[in-house]
Amino acid sequence: MTLRLGVNIDHVATIRNARGGEHPDPMRAVRIVEEAGGDGITVHLREDRRHIRDADLDMLMAETALPVNLEMAATEEMVAIALRHRPHAACIVPERREERTTEGGLDAAGQHNHLAPLVAQLLDAGIRVSLFIEPDARQIDAALRLRAPVVELHTGKYAHGDADGAELRRLADAAALCVKNGIEPHAGHGLTFDNVVPVAAIPQLAELNIGHYLVGEAIFIGLEESVRRMKALMESAR
Ligand code: PXP
Repeated sequence: MTLRLGVNIDHVATIRNARGGEHPDPMRAVRIVEEAGGDGITVHLREDRRHIRDADLDMLMAETALPVNLEMAATEEMVAIALRHRPHAACIVPERREERTTEGGLDAAGQHNHLAPLVAQLLDAGIRVSLFIEPDARQIDAALRLRAPVVELHTGKYAHGDADGAELRRLADAAALCVKNGIEPHAGHGLTFDNVVPVAAIPQLAELNIGHYLVGEAIFIGLEESVRRMKALMESAR
């Protein structure tokens, strides 16, 4: 199975917003990702609009032929936005105002009753729903009960240091369990050139979503090279 790279362009908007103008333009980044062989564009429209804004999403949906993966909190506001735009995929993430980034997985098990009607509305609209969860059997079971066709496994703990390989094994076990249950596993968070290969080698994974490192590395080697190098590393693992 091939492994797709979804490029998260949020932090192009973070840099733009630091000065309040139009530069750097996230749509220019989208065109470079297309050229460089990225397989999808991921954006997280946060409640506080700290990076991507509504107008960015309008532009993205109008202008790219790549599949768009909208990361969103499980709120009525975000579901309404997703239903209006109908992106290829919507990845439901936990969101806390005070966090710097999405720090942990969604508690799909504990929040079943809150999530069920939101997931159903998205699925009814033909949007491929993904749940961003920890690599944990209980959460995969909850995703199954919510009828989510996809989960994205949170690689944050692995990326923060996995000296004994336990986190990589959790990811591999979780990916295998997903496929056994008919769920397509994706993964992401904190992935870099140095840590991506062991994750990309997990054969059941169908997609990685990577953002901060690619945009950061673009400062040194350019976005096109940053995306190309990541894709090459992912392909080398298969
Ligand atoms: N996947 C999800 C669901 C995320 O929330 C994020 C961060 O926005 C990423 C992937 C990308 O993480 P990073 O920016 O650390 O590569």
